[in-house]
Amino acid sequence: MSGPTRRLFVGLMPDDAVRDALVSHQRRWYWAAGRALLADRLHLTLHFLGEVDATREWALRNALAGVDVAPFELVLRTPDLWSGGIAVLRPNEHSALHDLHARLAERLLVVGIEPSRVAFNPHVTLARNAPNAAPPEAAPAVTWTVADFALVWSRKEVPVRYEVLERYGSG
Ligand code: 2AM
Repeated sequence: MSGPTRRLFVGLMPDDAVRDALVSHQRRWYWAAGRALLADRLHLTLHFLGEVDATREWALRNALAGVDVAPFELVLRTPDLWSGGIAVLRPNEHSALHDLHARLAERLLVVGIEPSRVAFNPHVTLARNAPNAAPPEAAPAVTWTVADFALVWSRKEVPVRYEVLERYGSG
């Protein structure tokens, strides 16, 4: 690795309507002392890449440009509280999501990025550090029509934010 790097991930970024639906879902949780993530942080990570230098990022962008997404519908209906106080909303199983994850892993390998070996467990993180939170007993499902994915820069300097560098997959 050489030169400056950027902390990147590949993920699904919701449009405004899906983001609103996710926020409505967040409001149904009991957060105790925890706090829900801000709306603009909500996403579904496909591959966390960590620090990537400019040369490799350029190669990555070219590789991702060849990945298409035939639109599919994710239905998120399973809230869960994971150890460490991570509150998530999980989608129903969908082969298209796993297929997209696998195709992206191939593209990462082409540019020399080793995908994580941890099994893909799709989720939208709703809050961190919320060990005493309680999920809603019932909540409407969030329907998310996925038509693209994004390369995102996780910016750690203030103002901390996720910056979408590029969207891919919609032709
Ligand atoms: P998650 O909260 O949905 O699990 C950007 O940093 C995103 O990448 C995080 O929101 C996190 O998504 C995911 N991620 C996966 N592994 C990570 C790691 N080792 N460090 C930071 N983020 C990671």
